[in-house]
Amino acid sequence: MASWRDRLRSLHERVFGRAEVPPSSSESDDERPSITESPDLAQAAPVVAEKAPASRARAPTGKAPATVKTQGKRAAVASNDAPPRSTPKARPLAINLGIDFGTSFTKVCFRDLGSEVSGTVAAGKGGKEALVPSIVAIGSDGRLFLGDSVSGKQAAVIVPYLKMRLAGGPIGERLPEFGGIDLNKAESVRALAAWFLASVIQRSQQWLAVHEADRLKNRVADWSANVGVPVEHYDSQALATFEEVLGVAWLWVKDDLVPKTLQQALPSYRLTQPRLAAEVTDFHAVPEIAAAVQSFVMSREAVPGIYVYFDVGGGTVDGVAFNYLNFRGERRINFYSGKVEPLGVSAIGASLAQGAPGEIDAVRLEKLLKACSQSTLAELVLRIHKLVAYVVMTARRKDGRNWQEDAFQSADYERKFIGRLSTSRMRPLIVFIGGGGSKSEWYKGSIESTYTAFKHHSAGVPPYKLVEVPRPKDFIVPKGSADEFIRFAISYGLSFPFGEGPDIGLPSQFGAAEEPRQWTPPGVVDYADSKDYC
Ligand SMILES: Nc1ncnc2c1ncn2[C@@H]1O[C@H](COP(=O)(O)OP(=O)(O)OP(=O)(O)O)[C@@H](O)[C@H]1O
Ligand SMILES: [Mg+2]
Repeated sequence: MASWRDRLRSLHERVFGRAEVPPSSSESDDERPSITESPDLAQAAPVVAEKAPASRARAPTGKAPATVKTQGKRAAVASNDAPPRSTPKARPLAINLGIDFGTSFTKVCFRDLGSEVSGTVAAGKGGKEALVPSIVAIGSDGRLFLGDSVSGKQAAVIVPYLKMRLAGGPIGERLPEFGGIDLNKAESVRALAAWFLASVIQRSQQWLAVHEADRLKNRVADWSANVGVPVEHYDSQALATFEEVLGVAWLWVKDDLVPKTLQQALPSYRLTQPRLAAEVTDFHAVPEIAAAVQSFVMSREAVPGIYVYFDVGGGTVDGVAFNYLNFRGERRINFYSGKVEPLGVSAIGASLAQGAPGEIDAVRLEKLLKACSQSTLAELVLRIHKLVAYVVMTARRKDGRNWQEDAFQSADYERKFIGRLSTSRMRPLIVFIGGGGSKSEWYKGSIESTYTAFKHHSAGVPPYKLVEVPRPKDFIVPKGSADEFIRFAISYGLSFPFGEGPDIGLPSQFGAAEEPRQWTPPGVVDYADSKDYC
C-alpha cells in the first residue's frame, strides 16, 4: 500500500498538477537573521513559559511544566537534542495535530497514533478555551500577539479574517499601514498567517505537555500536523500559498525561532521560504470538507451510502455530496459535488450590520435577519437554496440511480439515526450539518426548504433529513468541557494523518460523462436540465 506521503502527493498532483513552490531567493541558511529571543510565550502560551521545538517533545518527568520557569530547561516540550546518557531512551509517540484554521475561530484536535484516540486541545485563552480567535494583534511596538492575548486597547492593529486574506478574498476592511509596512500586501499576510499558525502549534504542544502528561510520560513526541484548506482553493494557486505558509510556520517552530515582531517576521519569512524546497515539513494542507467527511467515515458507525454535508462557518457555507463505499474494509469516498459560497455567519452578518461594531455570531445574525427587508431576506434564502440545489442535484445526476426507489443507503443507517422507515418506504437523504452556524434555525430552515422551493420531489430526490454529524467513539473531550463535536468535526478529521483514512475521489473526477451504474426506468425526467436546478 502506498505511504500517506505518496497518497498526499498523488492527490495534489491529480487536482493541481505538480504543486511545487519555487524558491523565491537563493539566500542560504547561513544568512538567516539571528533572532536572539524566542517569542514571549507568557503571552503566546499561557500554560508553559518555555520554548517549544516542533520536531520532538519529551514528556515531563517531574513537576508539572506549568511550574517550570527556568529558561533552557525545557521540561515540558524538549528539543531534538539527544537525551542525556543516564536517562533511559524514551520511545517515540506520534502525535498529529489537526488544525481547523477557521475564518472566525481556529480549533485544534490532537491524535495519539499509538492509542488511536483524538481529543480537543484548549489552545485558546489561558489554556482553557478550545476556540482560538483567528486574529493576530500587532502592538504599538510591532510585537505580535494572538487575538485572545491582547485587549483591543493595547493593540495598535487587529488583523481578522486571516484565512480569507491568505486565499486572496478578504472580507472586512482594508488594513492600515504599520511603520511603513503595508499589511494588505501578500507578503505581510503570509508572514502574519505563518506566525499565527506557528503560535497555535506552540500553544498546542505546550498544552498537551501539561494536560496529556500521562500520555507523554517517558515518550518523545514525534509531531506532524494538518491544516484545513477550503476546497475551492484546493485546486487553485491558493493551495501553493497555503503550503508555503504552513512550511514556514513549521520551520519556525522546529527551529524554535518564531519571530516576535512584525518587523522580524517579514525578513524571517523571506529567508525561511527558500528552505522549503529541500526540507521536509510535516505540516500539510488537506481539503477542509474532506476532513469533515472523514470524521463521519471514521466514526465506525458509518454505513455506506450517499450523503450530503454542509459546514456552516463564519466566512463560508461549504456543501458536498459524497458516496461512501466500503468494500470489505477498503473504504472510499467519492465526492460527487462540492460548492462553497461566502454565506457564513460573519460574511452575511457583516453585510447586514453595515459597519456596526461588534462580533457577529449566529444569535446576532438572526436578529439582523429579522430586521432586514423582505427582499434582502428572500435574496439570501435564494442563495442558500441555489447552493443546496447545486450540491444535491449534481450528485443525483452523477450517481444515476433513482434515489427515491433504490436502496441508496443501507437500512442499518436509518435504524441507527432515523428510526423506522416511513410507510412510503422512501428513504430520506441524510444531510449532515456541522460548523458553529449550524445551530442557527435560519440556516437549518433555509437548507431544508430547498426541497420544496426547488421541487426536488419531482426531481427524484427523497426528502432531506438534517442530522448533526455523530460524535465518534474515539473522540475524547476533557472532563467538564462543554465542547460540542459539531464544532470540532473538521479538526477531528484533520487529526488523522493524511492517507490513513479512506481514499478520496474529488468532484472533478466524477464528470457528467460517467456511466450510470444502474438502469434508470424510461420516462424519468432528467432534472439536471431543469431551471430549478440552479
Ligand atoms: N453557540 C453559538 N451561538 C451563537 N453563534 C455561534 C455559536 N457557536 C458558533 N457560533 C457562530 O458560528 C459561526 C461559525 O463558527 P465556526 O467556528 O464554525 O466558523 P469558522 O470555522 O471560523 O468559519 P469558516 O468555516 O467559514 O472558516 C461563528 O460566526 C460563530 O460566532
Ligand atoms: Mg470552519
